[in-house]
Amino acid sequence: MSDSRPCPIIARRSAYVLDLAPGRYLWCACGRSNTQPFCDGSHDGSGMQPMAFEVTRRSGTQWLCGCKHTRHAPHCDGFHNRLPPPEGGG
Ligand code: FES
Repeated sequence: MSDSRPCPIIARRSAYVLDLAPGRYLWCACGRSNTQPFCDGSHDGSGMQPMAFEVTRRSGTQWLCGCKHTRHAPHCDGFHNRLPPPEGGG
């Protein structure tokens, strides 16, 4: 059985470590946004949607996934360390 879900683009191979003000945010799940790690609407037509999350006063520093392959979106779970190397080396 194959997985037909759309595959996100790897925005970067590490977390975005941010101190965010309390509020609601949209984490980019597709990797296409130019305002990483947040959605800018570039997912349109990709079949993917951003993930809404809320930061409370007590949330503290956020480690947001940059590779878009985390199993605990929108937060980094270290999965970027298991991704194959980029094509062309690196
Ligand atoms: Fe990536 Fe919206 S731009 S989810």
